[in-house]
Amino acid sequence: KKTENQMLVIFGASGDLTARKLIPSLFNLYMADQLPKNYVVLGVSRSNLSDEAYRERVVYNSSFLTEKTKNIDEAKLKGFADKLYYEDIGDDYDTDYSNLRKRVESLKEKHNTSGNIIYYLSTPPTLYETIAHRLSEVRMNTQNNGWKRLIVEKPFGYSLETAKKLNKGLHQYFKENQIYRIDHYLGKETVQNLLVTRFSNSIFEPLWNRNYIQHVEITNAESVGVEKRGGYYDKSGALRDMFQNHLLQIVSLVVMEPPIGSEAEEIRNEKVKALKSLRIMTDEKELAENTIRAQYVGSTIKGETVKGYRDEDGVDPNSTTETYAAVKFYVDNWRWHGVPFYVRTAKRMPTKVTEIVIHFKKPHHQIFKGSEMQEMDNKLIVRIQPDEGILIKFGVKVPGQGFKVERANLDFYYSSLVETYVMEAYERLLLDCMQGDATLYARADEVEAAWEFVDPILNYWKNGKDVRMYGYGAGAWGPENADDLIEEEGYWRNPSE
Ligand code: BG6
Repeated sequence: KKTENQMLVIFGASGDLTARKLIPSLFNLYMADQLPKNYVVLGVSRSNLSDEAYRERVVYNSSFLTEKTKNIDEAKLKGFADKLYYEDIGDDYDTDYSNLRKRVESLKEKHNTSGNIIYYLSTPPTLYETIAHRLSEVRMNTQNNGWKRLIVEKPFGYSLETAKKLNKGLHQYFKENQIYRIDHYLGKETVQNLLVTRFSNSIFEPLWNRNYIQHVEITNAESVGVEKRGGYYDKSGALRDMFQNHLLQIVSLVVMEPPIGSEAEEIRNEKVKALKSLRIMTDEKELAENTIRAQYVGSTIKGETVKGYRDEDGVDPNSTTETYAAVKFYVDNWRWHGVPFYVRTAKRMPTKVTEIVIHFKKPHHQIFKGSEMQEMDNKLIVRIQPDEGILIKFGVKVPGQGFKVERANLDFYYSSLVETYVMEAYERLLLDCMQGDATLYARADEVEAAWEFVDPILNYWKNGKDVRMYGYGAGAWGPENADDLIEEEGYWRNPSE
């Protein structure tokens, strides 16, 4: 695909995400010769910095670039840094953008970038609509001399109502096809590969339904706690931070029907349909039986004392924000009728891992009596991270007399494709937006459908009667009660540490 000449304007340019993800991703694209010939980045934020000071900060002195830049020559690095500029927007973003417009115009002339611009909103979400509004006031959203695109970071809304309000707000100034809602999980190679696994092979899709699948399990575990983000996290919690967006995006790719083709709208239409088919739980009893929340409590991990969630900086000592969420739900459509989905996400688990496990039904008739296989099911494991790959668990005969069956693995690891460079999520997504490809970005109706499912759970956890908050020791696989949730199917698969 072609990447036209363009400019990237980052709002929130002195923030953590810019330094940690955006600049390193741009740097990778630069090194891989993927940036257009005439290209320039303008960082915008409230700090008072010169262009030079900004370059020092996000390039030369950035700890996020040290590894990447240590073996490259100075001129090459300067070639990258010199394309970065900085503009101080004043005390808040709610101001007249005429100066910003002048700066953009002059950079456009200087670098001949044409009128194509991506605005990347990496500010607190409360500012998204304000920025869009202020841009429109000085006509920086008009497309008569080049396209304009808006990338919006998560969180997209705090509830169904706020997400709708935000969509409506942004749509006043930008058309839906100009808005790119980023979900970095969609930028992960292995997440995209779900589509290829399902729809380019003939051995999986025929089995991908209620006739052959017993249940589906998705685990997202992180070993870290809330790190320095206690203040943000305490107002969010696991369900908002991970489940509503990243995990439901994965669910939609597992659940969706085959799209007609691979165009953005063809795929996104099917994802919306998938999300809309999740059975919304409304009844308190149903919510009590199918959802579990918990918080990590202080513990010792490998000899080191680790704080409990309520003792973390920025967290209310009486906080009722969950750091663990597990939800069991059904999908009300032809393909998935009666198949339970179990999805869990948490901080401070024994290891960092994200995987999808498709559990197939056992053979209807057991021939090999007493064999271990009776205890085992066939599993397809899609390992999103780390050790990205696909594993199939199946039974083989143990050599010798009789029919003893043992489990064997067919494993594929991405790392075996040694010559392939796997782009980082942000890198891939930025490049897609630069080329106008929205396939891996969430559409307005998709985000709203996800909130529609999550909202009643959040409400129940907040206002329901006697809703339990369980505890789990930091470094454990969640609370024991979560085992009851999946009891009917057996137990959670806890990938080895
Ligand atoms: C972010 C969440 O969206 O995703 C973080 O806000 C979380 O809390 C992160 O740590 C996980 O991303 P990844 O790519 O490391 O799995």
